[in-house]
Amino acid sequence: MELKDYLKQEGFIVKCQYGISLMNAKLQMINAELSMRKGRNVIHSYSSRIKSYDSLAAKLKRKGGKENVIEMEEYINDVVGVRAVCTYTDDLYQIAEMLCAQRDLRLLKKKDYIKNPKKSGYRSFHLIFQVPVTFQEEVQWIKIEVQLRTGAMDYWAELDYQLQYKKENREAKNIGKELKEYANAIEQIDSKVLELRKRIEAI
Ligand code: GTP
Ligand code: MG
Repeated sequence: MELKDYLKQEGFIVKCQYGISLMNAKLQMINAELSMRKGRNVIHSYSSRIKSYDSLAAKLKRKGGKENVIEMEEYINDVVGVRAVCTYTDDLYQIAEMLCAQRDLRLLKKKDYIKNPKKSGYRSFHLIFQVPVTFQEEVQWIKIEVQLRTGAMDYWAELDYQLQYKKENREAKNIGKELKEYANAIEQIDSKVLELRKRIEAI
């Protein structure tokens, strides 16, 4: 079956949606636990998406894969993506740790773009999991990319995405350089805000 038609199949869509619900439920439970413990809300927004055909086809091409279901499952980790945004960097690491400790998830990959930002200036903590989805009496482990960010990182990533991510103009007219400067400024704000919170907590 053509990739384009496979992605439109109801079976594929419900499996992805179930994966998203499962991961969101886990994040909400972690949020409830951490918020209770800390006396403040920890995760302030959630979002999710299933990757579009156009974006999948383009990514497969970039990665040198053929446009079919097998190569999509092999090469693409973010067909299903979930994102949680919180205020402080330390919370974000705690969320990651609690997710990784869940026995019903298989962790495939961890990418810490906070300690090691991308060349663009992009920062976030990425986890690739497999989650079990039972459908038509079969269990299939589907991959989900979880992106954990602070509000500041999210703001920058959105800006970067709109202005130039995956476009050629990163090199042009110092746009990339300027965005990188903003990324650095945002990193400083994140660490100052964390220090401020710790000072307040110590009072
Ligand atoms: P991509 O082809 O960039 O998706 O690479 P990848 O899936 O092999 O892995 P990577 O960890 O580089 O990127 C995963 C996801 O992180 C992307 O799909 C984006 O959502 C996000 N991301 C990575 N780099 C950037 C960046 O420079 N800017 C923005 N805005 N988002 C990024
Ligand atoms: Mg992506």
